[in-house]
Amino acid sequence: MQYPGPEGPVSVLDGVSLALAPGESLCVMGPSGSGKSTLLAILGALETPTSGTVTLAGEDPARLPEKDLAAFRNRRVGFVFQDHCLLPQLTALENVLVPTLVAAPDSTAPQRARELLEAVGLGSRLAHRPAQLSGGEKQRVALARALVMHPALVLCDEPTGNLDARSAETVGSLLLELHAKHRSILVVVTHSTELAARFPSRAMLKDGRLVA
Ligand SMILES: Nc1ncnc2c1ncn2[C@@H]1O[C@H](COP(=O)(O)OP(=O)(O)O)[C@@H](O)[C@H]1O
Ligand SMILES: [Mg+2]
Repeated sequence: MQYPGPEGPVSVLDGVSLALAPGESLCVMGPSGSGKSTLLAILGALETPTSGTVTLAGEDPARLPEKDLAAFRNRRVGFVFQDHCLLPQLTALENVLVPTLVAAPDSTAPQRARELLEAVGLGSRLAHRPAQLSGGEKQRVALARALVMHPALVLCDEPTGNLDARSAETVGSLLLELHAKHRSILVVVTHSTELAARFPSRAMLKDGRLVA
C-alpha cells in the first residue's frame, strides 16, 4: 500500500500476505505508524490497496461497484475501534441496531441485538445512553454492534486501548468468547501484551511486512 506524500508515494505495507479461515484469529502488533490501522482498513474494504488483492469468502470487494461495496462492508465486516464511536443520543440497544437499519428490513434484528447485549453482560443496560455507561460498558456495546450483522470478518483496532486493566480484560474475554461462538475471522490490533498473549496466533508489522 502506498499513500501519496509531498515527496512522492510513501510505502506503508509491502508484500503482506495473510490467509485466515473462518474461526481463526490473528493478533497484530507493531510500533505506531507501522501500518496496523492501514492493514485493517484494507482488510475491511475501507481502503483499496494500491497493489495486491483482498478476498473474503472468494469475493474481492475492490471489484464491487460503490453501492455493493457499502453493502459488503455493512454485512460482511464488523469493526471495533479504540474509541467506541457510539451515537450519544441513542440507547445501547439502538446503537447496536444501527448497522441493521441500512440493510434490508429484518424483524429478527431487535432480538439479536438484545441477545448480544445480554452476551456482553449488558442485559440490564439496554435503555442506557452512552453517557450513562462506563468506558468498558461502552466498548462492550460497540462489540455487540460489530457482531449484530453476523459478519464473516471482525476487525478490532486497539479495542482495549482506552480501558483500565480490568475493563480491558473483560472486553478481551468477551471478544474471544464471541469469536469462538460466531466463528468469524478475527483480526485484532493491539499494543497490549496481555491481550496479545490470549491469541493463539500473533504477528508483528515491521518495515511494511507481517512477520511471525
Ligand atoms: N490516508 C493517508 N494518507 C497518507 N498517509 C497515511 C494515510 N493513512 C496513514 N498514512 C501513513 O501511513 C503510515 C501508517 O499509518 P497507520 O496505518 O495509521 O499506522 P499504525 O496504525 O500502525 O499506527 C503512517 O506513516 C501514516 O502517516
Ligand atoms: Mg493505528
